[in-house]
Amino acid sequence: MVSYKELGLVNSRELFKKAMEGQYAIPAFNFNNMEQLQAIIMACVETKSPVILQVSSGARKYANQNLLKNMAKGATEYAHELGCDIPIVLHLDHGDSFELCKSCIETGFSSVMIDGSHLPYEENIALTRKVVEYAHPFDVTVEGELGVLAGIEDEVSAEHHTYTRPEEVEDFVKRTNVDSLAISIGTSHGAFKFKVKPGEAIPPLRFDILKEVEKRIPGFPIVLHGASSVPQDIVAEINQYGGDIQNSAGVPEDQLRTASRSAVCKINIDSDGRLAMTAAIRKVLSEKPGEFDPRKYLGPAREKLKALYIHKIINVLGSADKA
Ligand code: G3H
Ligand code: 13P
Ligand code: ZN
Repeated sequence: MVSYKELGLVNSRELFKKAMEGQYAIPAFNFNNMEQLQAIIMACVETKSPVILQVSSGARKYANQNLLKNMAKGATEYAHELGCDIPIVLHLDHGDSFELCKSCIETGFSSVMIDGSHLPYEENIALTRKVVEYAHPFDVTVEGELGVLAGIEDEVSAEHHTYTRPEEVEDFVKRTNVDSLAISIGTSHGAFKFKVKPGEAIPPLRFDILKEVEKRIPGFPIVLHGASSVPQDIVAEINQYGGDIQNSAGVPEDQLRTASRSAVCKINIDSDGRLAMTAAIRKVLSEKPGEFDPRKYLGPAREKLKALYIHKIINVLGSADKA
Protein backbone atom coordinates (compact mmCIF):
# COMPACT_ATOMS: atom_id res chain seq x y z
CA MET A 1 0.00 0.00 0.00
CA VAL A 2 1.39 3.39 -1.03
CA SER A 3 -0.38 6.46 0.29
CA TYR A 4 -0.67 9.36 -2.12
CA LYS A 5 0.50 11.57 0.72
CA GLU A 6 3.94 9.94 0.52
CA LEU A 7 4.04 10.94 -3.15
CA GLY A 8 3.35 14.61 -2.39
CA LEU A 9 -0.18 14.51 -3.85
CA VAL A 10 -3.46 15.88 -2.46
CA ASN A 11 -7.07 14.76 -2.75
CA SER A 12 -9.66 16.99 -4.40
CA ARG A 13 -11.72 18.05 -1.34
CA GLU A 14 -10.01 21.33 -0.50
CA LEU A 15 -9.49 22.23 -4.16
CA PHE A 16 -13.21 21.87 -4.90
CA LYS A 17 -14.16 23.89 -1.82
CA LYS A 18 -11.97 26.78 -2.99
CA ALA A 19 -13.12 26.42 -6.61
CA MET A 20 -16.74 26.61 -5.49
CA GLU A 21 -16.10 29.74 -3.42
CA GLY A 22 -13.91 31.36 -6.08
CA GLN A 23 -16.19 30.45 -9.01
CA TYR A 24 -13.64 28.69 -11.16
CA ALA A 25 -12.99 25.06 -12.16
CA ILE A 26 -9.97 22.83 -11.62
CA PRO A 27 -8.46 21.50 -14.86
CA ALA A 28 -8.56 17.71 -15.20
CA PHE A 29 -6.13 16.81 -17.96
CA ASN A 30 -5.52 13.19 -19.05
CA PHE A 31 -2.01 11.89 -19.54
CA ASN A 32 -0.48 8.69 -20.94
CA ASN A 33 3.15 9.67 -21.45
CA MET A 34 6.00 11.88 -20.32
CA GLU A 35 5.51 14.73 -22.79
CA GLN A 36 1.84 15.16 -21.86
CA LEU A 37 2.74 15.19 -18.18
CA GLN A 38 5.57 17.67 -18.69
CA ALA A 39 3.27 20.00 -20.65
CA ILE A 40 0.59 19.84 -17.96
CA ILE A 41 3.02 20.60 -15.14
CA MET A 42 4.82 23.35 -17.04
CA ALA A 43 1.51 25.04 -17.91
CA CYS A 44 0.13 24.75 -14.39
CA VAL A 45 3.30 26.00 -12.73
CA GLU A 46 3.55 28.92 -15.15
CA THR A 47 -0.06 29.94 -14.44
CA LYS A 48 0.02 28.87 -10.76
CA SER A 49 -2.99 26.60 -11.21
CA PRO A 50 -3.92 23.52 -9.20
CA VAL A 51 -4.37 20.45 -11.37
CA ILE A 52 -5.99 17.03 -11.55
CA LEU A 53 -3.87 14.49 -13.44
CA GLN A 54 -6.25 11.98 -14.94
CA VAL A 55 -5.42 8.39 -15.76
CA SER A 56 -7.96 6.23 -17.59
CA SER A 57 -7.87 2.45 -17.34
CA GLY A 58 -6.60 2.52 -20.94
CA ALA A 59 -3.78 4.84 -19.88
CA ARG A 60 -2.97 2.54 -16.98
CA LYS A 61 -2.67 -0.40 -19.36
CA TYR A 62 -0.66 1.66 -21.85
CA ALA A 63 1.84 3.18 -19.46
CA ASN A 64 2.06 0.65 -16.58
CA GLN A 65 0.75 1.44 -13.10
CA ASN A 66 4.18 1.56 -11.41
CA LEU A 67 5.56 3.93 -13.98
CA LEU A 68 2.46 6.12 -13.66
CA LYS A 69 2.76 6.25 -9.88
CA ASN A 70 6.38 7.31 -10.11
CA MET A 71 5.60 9.78 -12.87
CA ALA A 72 3.04 11.43 -10.58
CA LYS A 73 5.60 11.54 -7.77
CA GLY A 74 8.08 12.97 -10.27
CA ALA A 75 5.50 15.56 -11.28
CA THR A 76 5.35 16.96 -7.73
CA GLU A 77 9.17 17.18 -7.65
CA TYR A 78 9.25 18.70 -11.13
CA ALA A 79 6.72 21.37 -10.14
CA HIS A 80 8.87 22.18 -7.08
CA GLU A 81 11.95 22.42 -9.28
CA LEU A 82 10.09 24.75 -11.66
CA GLY A 83 9.38 27.03 -8.71
CA CYS A 84 5.80 26.43 -7.52
CA ASP A 85 4.42 23.58 -5.39
CA ILE A 86 1.03 23.52 -7.09
CA PRO A 87 -1.54 21.12 -5.57
CA ILE A 88 -1.60 17.94 -7.69
CA VAL A 89 -4.34 15.28 -7.60
CA LEU A 90 -3.80 11.87 -9.19
CA HIS A 91 -7.25 10.72 -10.31
CA LEU A 92 -8.60 7.53 -11.87
CA ASP A 93 -10.80 8.53 -14.82
CA HIS A 94 -13.89 6.36 -15.49
CA GLY A 95 -13.12 3.56 -13.05
CA ASP A 96 -15.49 0.74 -14.00
CA SER A 97 -15.12 -1.63 -11.05
CA PHE A 98 -14.55 -1.70 -7.31
CA GLU A 99 -11.36 -3.75 -7.87
CA LEU A 100 -9.85 -1.16 -10.21
CA CYS A 101 -10.61 1.69 -7.79
CA LYS A 102 -9.15 -0.31 -4.87
CA SER A 103 -6.02 -1.11 -6.84
CA CYS A 104 -5.53 2.56 -7.75
CA ILE A 105 -6.02 3.64 -4.14
CA GLU A 106 -3.40 1.08 -3.09
CA THR A 107 -0.93 2.39 -5.64
CA GLY A 108 -1.00 6.07 -4.78
CA PHE A 109 -4.08 7.63 -6.40
CA SER A 110 -5.58 10.43 -4.30
CA SER A 111 -8.94 10.41 -6.06
CA VAL A 112 -10.97 7.91 -8.06
CA MET A 113 -14.02 8.02 -10.28
CA ILE A 114 -16.40 5.10 -10.09
CA ASP A 115 -18.52 5.35 -13.20
CA GLY A 116 -21.70 3.42 -12.58
CA SER A 117 -23.68 5.66 -14.91
CA HIS A 118 -24.50 2.78 -17.26
CA LEU A 119 -25.97 0.68 -14.45
CA PRO A 120 -29.52 0.73 -13.17
CA TYR A 121 -29.91 3.46 -10.51
CA GLU A 122 -29.85 1.20 -7.43
CA GLU A 123 -26.80 -0.72 -8.74
CA ASN A 124 -25.00 2.55 -9.41
CA ILE A 125 -25.71 3.59 -5.80
CA ALA A 126 -24.51 0.26 -4.36
CA LEU A 127 -21.28 0.24 -6.38
CA THR A 128 -20.50 3.90 -5.71
CA ARG A 129 -21.16 3.50 -1.98
CA LYS A 130 -18.88 0.47 -1.84
CA VAL A 131 -16.02 2.45 -3.42
CA VAL A 132 -16.63 5.42 -1.10
CA GLU A 133 -16.59 3.16 1.97
CA TYR A 134 -13.25 1.77 0.88
CA ALA A 135 -11.73 5.12 -0.18
CA HIS A 136 -12.65 7.44 2.66
CA PRO A 137 -10.62 5.75 5.44
CA PHE A 138 -7.57 6.45 3.23
CA ASP A 139 -8.73 10.06 2.74
CA VAL A 140 -9.16 9.42 -0.99
CA THR A 141 -11.97 11.37 -2.67
CA VAL A 142 -14.53 9.74 -4.97
CA GLU A 143 -16.38 11.03 -8.04
CA GLY A 144 -19.62 9.35 -9.11
CA GLU A 145 -21.74 9.85 -12.22
CA LEU A 146 -25.45 10.15 -12.92
CA GLY A 147 -26.70 10.35 -16.48
CA VAL A 148 -24.95 8.99 -19.57
CA LEU A 149 -22.92 11.02 -22.04
CA ALA A 150 -23.28 10.20 -25.72
CA GLY A 151 -20.07 8.93 -27.33
CA ILE A 152 -17.39 6.61 -26.11
CA GLU A 153 -16.26 6.20 -22.52
CA ASP A 154 -13.41 3.68 -22.63
CA GLU A 155 -15.03 0.56 -24.09
CA VAL A 156 -18.62 1.63 -23.38
CA SER A 157 -20.42 3.64 -26.05
CA ALA A 158 -23.82 5.30 -26.05
CA GLU A 159 -25.49 6.77 -29.09
CA HIS A 160 -27.65 9.30 -27.27
CA HIS A 161 -27.36 11.37 -24.11
CA THR A 162 -29.34 10.34 -21.12
CA TYR A 163 -29.43 13.66 -19.32
CA THR A 164 -29.01 13.63 -15.57
CA ARG A 165 -32.35 13.63 -13.77
CA PRO A 166 -32.10 16.42 -11.17
CA GLU A 167 -34.71 14.69 -9.01
CA GLU A 168 -32.20 11.85 -8.40
CA VAL A 169 -29.09 13.80 -7.38
CA GLU A 170 -29.97 14.53 -3.75
CA ASP A 171 -30.80 10.90 -3.00
CA PHE A 172 -27.69 9.68 -4.87
CA VAL A 173 -25.32 11.99 -3.03
CA LYS A 174 -26.88 11.27 0.36
CA ARG A 175 -26.89 7.50 -0.03
CA THR A 176 -23.42 7.14 -1.57
CA ASN A 177 -21.58 9.87 0.41
CA VAL A 178 -19.67 10.58 -2.80
CA ASP A 179 -17.46 13.73 -2.91
CA SER A 180 -18.33 15.03 -6.38
CA LEU A 181 -20.81 14.21 -9.12
CA ALA A 182 -20.35 14.07 -12.89
CA ILE A 183 -23.52 15.02 -14.74
CA SER A 184 -24.76 14.76 -18.30
CA ILE A 185 -25.93 18.10 -19.75
CA GLY A 186 -25.05 17.69 -23.41
CA THR A 187 -21.26 17.25 -23.47
CA SER A 188 -19.79 14.04 -24.88
CA HIS A 189 -16.40 12.41 -25.27
CA GLY A 190 -14.14 12.68 -28.29
CA ALA A 191 -13.72 15.07 -31.22
CA PHE A 192 -17.13 14.57 -32.85
CA LYS A 193 -19.54 15.80 -30.21
CA PHE A 194 -22.27 17.33 -32.34
CA LYS A 195 -23.65 16.45 -35.75
CA VAL A 196 -24.10 19.93 -37.22
CA LYS A 197 -24.14 20.97 -40.84
CA PRO A 198 -21.66 23.70 -41.94
CA GLY A 199 -22.88 27.06 -40.68
CA GLU A 200 -25.27 25.51 -38.18
CA ALA A 201 -24.90 26.49 -34.52
CA ILE A 202 -23.83 23.94 -31.91
CA PRO A 203 -26.73 23.25 -29.53
CA PRO A 204 -26.14 24.91 -26.14
CA LEU A 205 -25.45 22.83 -23.04
CA ARG A 206 -28.48 22.17 -20.84
CA PHE A 207 -27.78 24.86 -18.26
CA ASP A 208 -31.35 24.45 -17.06
CA ILE A 209 -30.46 20.95 -15.79
CA LEU A 210 -27.28 22.24 -14.15
CA LYS A 211 -29.28 24.99 -12.38
CA GLU A 212 -31.82 22.49 -11.14
CA VAL A 213 -29.03 20.22 -9.85
CA GLU A 214 -27.42 23.18 -8.05
CA LYS A 215 -30.74 24.00 -6.43
CA ARG A 216 -31.15 20.46 -5.11
CA ILE A 217 -27.59 19.97 -3.80
CA PRO A 218 -26.35 23.51 -3.09
CA GLY A 219 -22.58 23.85 -2.77
CA PHE A 220 -21.90 20.30 -3.99
CA PRO A 221 -19.02 19.93 -6.51
CA ILE A 222 -20.16 19.07 -10.03
CA VAL A 223 -17.93 17.61 -12.77
CA LEU A 224 -18.17 18.06 -16.53
CA HIS A 225 -16.77 15.29 -18.71
CA GLY A 226 -16.39 15.55 -22.45
CA ALA A 227 -15.42 19.23 -22.27
CA SER A 228 -13.00 19.53 -25.15
CA SER A 229 -13.77 22.35 -27.57
CA VAL A 230 -12.11 20.75 -30.62
CA PRO A 231 -10.40 23.97 -31.85
CA GLN A 232 -11.03 24.19 -35.57
CA ASP A 233 -7.68 25.86 -36.28
CA ILE A 234 -5.93 22.81 -34.82
CA VAL A 235 -8.14 20.42 -36.81
CA ALA A 236 -7.35 22.46 -39.96
CA GLU A 237 -3.63 22.15 -39.21
CA ILE A 238 -3.93 18.37 -38.87
CA ASN A 239 -5.73 18.17 -42.21
CA GLN A 240 -3.24 20.57 -43.86
CA TYR A 241 -0.41 18.20 -42.98
CA GLY A 242 -1.99 15.01 -44.26
CA GLY A 243 -4.58 14.23 -41.61
CA ASP A 244 -8.22 13.48 -42.25
CA ILE A 245 -10.55 14.66 -39.51
CA GLN A 246 -13.96 15.62 -40.85
CA ASN A 247 -17.14 16.90 -39.19
CA SER A 248 -15.47 17.45 -35.84
CA ALA A 249 -17.14 19.69 -33.25
CA GLY A 250 -16.67 20.49 -29.57
CA VAL A 251 -18.19 22.47 -26.73
CA PRO A 252 -17.78 26.23 -27.29
CA GLU A 253 -15.36 27.68 -24.76
CA ASP A 254 -17.67 30.50 -23.69
CA GLN A 255 -20.16 27.89 -22.46
CA LEU A 256 -17.45 26.19 -20.44
CA ARG A 257 -16.44 29.58 -19.00
CA THR A 258 -20.03 30.04 -17.88
CA ALA A 259 -20.07 26.52 -16.40
CA SER A 260 -16.85 27.08 -14.49
CA ARG A 261 -18.48 30.01 -12.64
CA SER A 262 -21.21 27.69 -11.38
CA ALA A 263 -21.05 24.60 -9.14
CA VAL A 264 -18.92 22.94 -11.82
CA CYS A 265 -15.58 22.52 -10.02
CA LYS A 266 -13.81 20.09 -12.38
CA ILE A 267 -13.66 20.20 -16.17
CA ASN A 268 -12.24 17.20 -18.08
CA ILE A 269 -10.20 17.85 -21.21
CA ASP A 270 -8.42 15.11 -23.14
CA SER A 271 -9.30 15.24 -26.85
CA ASP A 272 -8.08 18.83 -27.37
CA GLY A 273 -4.65 17.78 -26.14
CA ARG A 274 -4.61 14.78 -28.46
CA LEU A 275 -5.45 17.05 -31.39
CA ALA A 276 -2.77 19.60 -30.47
CA MET A 277 -0.07 16.94 -30.22
CA THR A 278 -1.12 15.35 -33.50
CA ALA A 279 -1.08 18.70 -35.33
CA ALA A 280 2.42 19.54 -34.12
CA ILE A 281 3.82 16.08 -34.91
CA ARG A 282 2.26 16.03 -38.39
CA LYS A 283 3.67 19.49 -39.15
CA VAL A 284 7.25 18.50 -38.27
CA LEU A 285 7.10 15.17 -40.09
CA SER A 286 5.54 16.74 -43.15
CA GLU A 287 7.97 19.68 -43.34
CA LYS A 288 11.02 17.57 -42.48
CA PRO A 289 10.40 14.08 -43.88
CA GLY A 290 13.97 13.08 -43.04
CA GLU A 291 13.51 13.72 -39.32
CA PHE A 292 13.68 10.59 -37.15
CA ASP A 293 14.68 11.87 -33.71
CA PRO A 294 11.49 11.63 -31.59
CA ARG A 295 12.60 14.64 -29.55
CA LYS A 296 12.39 16.76 -32.69
CA TYR A 297 8.66 16.12 -33.09
CA LEU A 298 7.62 15.33 -29.52
CA GLY A 299 9.33 18.52 -28.31
CA PRO A 300 7.18 20.80 -30.52
CA ALA A 301 4.13 18.68 -29.62
CA ARG A 302 4.85 19.32 -25.94
CA GLU A 303 5.15 23.07 -26.61
CA LYS A 304 1.82 23.18 -28.44
CA LEU A 305 0.19 21.21 -25.67
CA LYS A 306 1.58 23.53 -23.03
CA ALA A 307 0.22 26.58 -24.90
CA LEU A 308 -3.19 24.91 -25.17
CA TYR A 309 -3.30 24.17 -21.43
CA ILE A 310 -2.24 27.72 -20.52
CA HIS A 311 -5.06 29.03 -22.71
CA LYS A 312 -7.60 26.71 -21.05
CA ILE A 313 -6.48 27.63 -17.54
CA ILE A 314 -6.55 31.38 -18.12
CA ASN A 315 -9.44 31.81 -20.54
CA VAL A 316 -11.76 28.89 -19.89
CA LEU A 317 -11.40 27.47 -16.38
CA GLY A 318 -10.27 30.59 -14.52
CA SER A 319 -7.90 28.59 -12.29
CA ALA A 320 -4.77 30.71 -12.79
CA ASP A 321 -3.21 32.03 -9.57
CA LYS A 322 -5.36 29.67 -7.45
CA ALA A 323 -2.54 27.25 -6.51
O1 G3H B 1 -13.08 9.85 -21.15
C1 G3H B 1 -12.17 9.29 -21.73
C2 G3H B 1 -10.82 9.89 -21.75
O2 G3H B 1 -10.67 10.77 -22.83
C3 G3H B 1 -9.76 8.82 -21.73
O3 G3H B 1 -9.70 8.18 -22.95
O4 G3H B 1 -9.92 5.77 -22.33
O5 G3H B 1 -8.92 6.47 -24.53
O6 G3H B 1 -7.66 6.82 -22.40
P1 G3H B 1 -9.01 6.70 -23.06
P1 13P C 1 -12.98 15.05 -24.08
O1 13P C 1 -13.00 13.86 -24.97
O2 13P C 1 -14.03 16.04 -24.46
O3 13P C 1 -11.63 15.69 -23.99
O4 13P C 1 -13.38 14.56 -22.59
C1 13P C 1 -12.41 13.99 -21.74
C2 13P C 1 -13.02 13.35 -20.56
O5 13P C 1 -14.17 13.53 -20.20
C3 13P C 1 -12.15 12.45 -19.77
O6 13P C 1 -12.86 11.82 -18.76
ZN1 ZN D 1 -14.92 11.41 -19.23
